[in-house]
Amino acid sequence: MIGIGNDHAAVELKQAICEHLKERGIEFIDYGIGPGEKIDYPDAAEMVCRDVVSGKLEKAILLCGTGIGISIAANKIKGIRACACSDAFSAKYTRLHNDANALCLGGRVVGAGLACELVDVFLDTEFEGGRHQRRVDKITALENK
Ligand code: RB5
Repeated sequence: MIGIGNDHAAVELKQAICEHLKERGIEFIDYGIGPGEKIDYPDAAEMVCRDVVSGKLEKAILLCGTGIGISIAANKIKGIRACACSDAFSAKYTRLHNDANALCLGGRVVGAGLACELVDVFLDTEFEGGRHQRRVDKITALENK
């Protein structure tokens, strides 16, 4: 199960991604706000990320104006590895090497077409493990220092 959250700067992008996930038959929960509503991006990040950490969700898609604020907030939550990205290489390698569990996109940065492609790459790429597991374990250790 995928969770999707957004602030008011990414309502349209959220709607486009939800449509895309439906077309692909991917199950998701929409935690986000709709037109005319407002939420601060740290609150949007927390709602979805808590459910990733608890195991209810496999991954999060988080949207704000830039993708940056919501990624900074998400990365404060223990167990979350969030990546703000706007290119397919980063979306692929943050899964392969970082085992990222949250993809953060900017509604004022990427168009719907590119965003949906980034979502596909992110969801369809498996973590490589091996030497990368040791590094991810070190990130987890940092959370406990
Ligand atoms: C909200 O206006 C905007 O600041 C927010 O969506 C985001 O871009 C922050 O990083």
